[in-house]
Amino acid sequence: MKIFLDTANLESIRKYNDMGLLDGITTNPSLMSKEGRNPKDVMEEITKIIKGDVSLEVVNTDYAGMIEEGKRLRQYGENVVVKVPMTADGLKACKHLSSEGIPVNVTLIFSANQALLAAKSGAKYVSPFIGRLDDIGKDGMNLIRDIKIIFDNYKDDFKTQILVASIRHPIHVVDAAKVGAHVVTLPPTVLDKMLQHPLTDIGLDNFLSDWKKFKAGNPDI
Ligand code: G3P
Repeated sequence: MKIFLDTANLESIRKYNDMGLLDGITTNPSLMSKEGRNPKDVMEEITKIIKGDVSLEVVNTDYAGMIEEGKRLRQYGENVVVKVPMTADGLKACKHLSSEGIPVNVTLIFSANQALLAAKSGAKYVSPFIGRLDDIGKDGMNLIRDIKIIFDNYKDDFKTQILVASIRHPIHVVDAAKVGAHVVTLPPTVLDKMLQHPLTDIGLDNFLSDWKKFKAGNPDI
């Protein structure tokens, strides 16, 4: 399973990229705004740091605007994936950009039918938002299960990857991996939690204090 970081924060991107954990990045207009910097500089930096796919989202909502903006975003790098919303115009833009060899991530997916249509339009990725479904009392992971079954049933027709988005905690990641989703995109806080375990910290403290005692009793060794 590939791991993407869901952020436009360069410090976090560098931190986890230096650990070799990142296969790509996803951004959206909210994440970009949060940084309070010129988005052009941020997008340029991210595409320099990350070799894998970087999803940059359009803010136009009409077909022509999305095509023009998508092509402009693609100029930041060959690894740019244009992110479009799950709308009629978004799917039309997805078909057009994909047919020109520009990969597309269709975002704001909340149903299996939407995922099916995005795959039909040629999307490289579909982004189902599981946390936001959980928020309204629906089981977001069930949507991932449904999409996985559908895409597996039509393996020869669809090469589209399931990019699980709106992940809120580490259990989402384990469950997405068990279902066989292709990609998870994680907020830095979730990736940080995945690194940690209290028994690791306790174990390390014990190893080091035993070593210290041993050295104190055997100064010549
Ligand atoms: O990148 C889109 C998605 O991951 C947003 O997550 O937490 O705002 O629902 P969230």
